Amino acid sequence: MSKRYTITAALPYTNGPIHIGHLAGVYVPADIYARYLRLTGNDVAFMCGSDEHGVPITIKAKKEGVTPQDIVDKYHAIIKKSFEDFGITFDNYSRTSAKIHHDTAQEFFKTLYNKGEFIEEVTEQLYDEEANQFLADRFVTGTCPKCGNEEAYGDQCENCGTSLNATDLIIPKSAITGNTPTLKQTKHWFLPLDKHEDFLKEWILKGHKKDWKPNVYGQVKSWIDDGLRPRAVTRDLDWGIPVPVEGADGKVLYVWFDAPIGYISATKEWAEREGKDWEPYWKDENTKLVHFIGKDNIVFHCIIFPSMLKAEGSYILPDNVPANEFLNLEGNKLSTSKNWAVWLPDYLEDFPGQQDVLRYALTANAPETKDNDFTWKDFQARNNNELVAIFGNFINRVVVLTRKYYEGVVPEPSKLRDIDEKTLAALRAYPEVISSSIERYRFREASQELMNLARLGNKYLADEEPWKVIKEDEARTKTIMYIALQIAGALAILSEPFLPFTSKKLKEILAMETPEMAGGYISDRFIKGVSWKNLKDRISLDNFIKPGHCIEEPQLLFTKIEDKDIQAQLDKLETSKKANEAANKVAEPQKEEITFDDFTKLDLRVGTIIEAEKMPKAKKLLVLKVDTGIDTRTIVSGIAESFTAEEVIGKRVTVLVNLAPRKLRGVESEGMILMTESPEGKLVFVNPDANQDVANGLQIS
Ligand code: 2FM
Ligand code: ZN
Repeated sequence: MSKRYTITAALPYTNGPIHIGHLAGVYVPADIYARYLRLTGNDVAFMCGSDEHGVPITIKAKKEGVTPQDIVDKYHAIIKKSFEDFGITFDNYSRTSAKIHHDTAQEFFKTLYNKGEFIEEVTEQLYDEEANQFLADRFVTGTCPKCGNEEAYGDQCENCGTSLNATDLIIPKSAITGNTPTLKQTKHWFLPLDKHEDFLKEWILKGHKKDWKPNVYGQVKSWIDDGLRPRAVTRDLDWGIPVPVEGADGKVLYVWFDAPIGYISATKEWAEREGKDWEPYWKDENTKLVHFIGKDNIVFHCIIFPSMLKAEGSYILPDNVPANEFLNLEGNKLSTSKNWAVWLPDYLEDFPGQQDVLRYALTANAPETKDNDFTWKDFQARNNNELVAIFGNFINRVVVLTRKYYEGVVPEPSKLRDIDEKTLAALRAYPEVISSSIERYRFREASQELMNLARLGNKYLADEEPWKVIKEDEARTKTIMYIALQIAGALAILSEPFLPFTSKKLKEILAMETPEMAGGYISDRFIKGVSWKNLKDRISLDNFIKPGHCIEEPQLLFTKIEDKDIQAQLDKLETSKKANEAANKVAEPQKEEITFDDFTKLDLRVGTIIEAEKMPKAKKLLVLKVDTGIDTRTIVSGIAESFTAEEVIGKRVTVLVNLAPRKLRGVESEGMILMTESPEGKLVFVNPDANQDVANGLQIS
């Protein structure tokens, strides 16, 4: 039966592009779910948008010397476009700086205010005297009182997920100046979560929420069991939505108060555009509301937002919150600030037309029940060993043989054998098998079932060997090819939520109508009206890929990804790693003090390298001839891993000339060239610049 669904995907912060962690955790599963529900005939509103308030955006703006508005404008455009290019089918991608959102969030606040749902209280909050600013959320870090993580934020510990008040932090530190904050009085509005405890217990613990994912249910239960406390929903900040009541000058709504309301305003904006009524999507008990989020957002979607919705009184509550765990990258935590990520815009540029490969790799390895690791090697293997070798190979064989044997016309089958009946029975079960996994939010399992269907096709062809049978039994060959074509057709339909670009190509090859054709005239040469729901029956009734139907030319669905492409990605990451190490490098502690007389003993001169050659069988050593202004002498230098002999010839250098000579690999070295390290860890010369006025031999003092 058709149902109404409101599906939301966490609004991404607009302080950087989308990366694979966001995609695997939230957007790919949400898109699979939304596409699947549409394909099965449901009424779907799939909502998302940019989360444009909050401290990370102001911090980024400050760092770059621009306004927060500049930052959100820039990233909103980047994020929106990359989602579109990646095939994420939001019905609306809005933004929280939109007027409709400001109005909706303020109205929501006022309703709660007028109903007396807030506690208005003057309390002492953390304050940075030097920055002249109250410290909340990400403006302050400190030790989490629950798990001891020393980098917990003022509103949440990302290690244990606990939601915090800034004053809970042990040894708080301002993220702006590094100072220890003082306490200062200020007025705020608090949502008394304790007052909603009974409702939450009833709704989540005693209600039907046992079918929530264990990671979500477990966390929520533990927070409720620990007892809830009032939470401030306003902040002393100048970036955000102004608090719409008297006596709240200079105060804005807490970003986590306004952001989830963004789902509602996105729905309103969409409904206005489409000429629909937004209210049933949020207020009709028959609507199923599902929030797709990452695990760090659980408390906000399972405790705070439901309490807000309940307090408001006219809204439905989420039916499920299938939060995912985290995805790591090559063994390390993904991080926007450390540039340890695979960015979606970069992926789209480096792997053009290969959206489905990433969608598949992220789904097949989705962090559904535990944190998982993305590796480029696994990505390559998923493509080469599964998409190319199983899915692509099966389709290619079916299409090429059908064109070769029958000029693309689907042949008439004759009497079916046991293997044919069994294969068709297995095939008919797939729509329900995959549905069952998707409806239980097991997208990983669902994607593997899809691949199993391609395996079924491959095995059928390998066992029945039409390329051999054609030589002796034409009628049998026709039956084999007819059955293989039914499997290919089913793959075109059932792959759509997971591999939408591939599904479209496959439908074109098999001459099936595509969603793009909907609404227009569709020629009779296309197969029409097949859906996920009627696929099983159409196969049973021989009414799917029918004899006489003509298929098109083959198209390449997937291409092999070469080692060099993977190496290029690994090299990119290595560069990020080095830059991070350099940024985090702490200067060596100062050596023991020396006297001025000690210093004057060093005879440092300006010199020029005039000859250079590699020391045989020594990885690190170059043998240099250096014009020191006093003489030309040989110096053996350990710089061969950073420079070739050719590139150092002519370099101006600083030379310690009165260092006692010593033999290195049999060559006497008379002095030392001064070197330091670049931020990337590469050796660089301490050189007297290219200033030609500095003559060789000049003493450095
Ligand atoms: O964690 C985040 O990236 C938040 N911007 C998610 C917000 S979800 C919602 F409530 F809007
Ligand atoms: Zn913690």
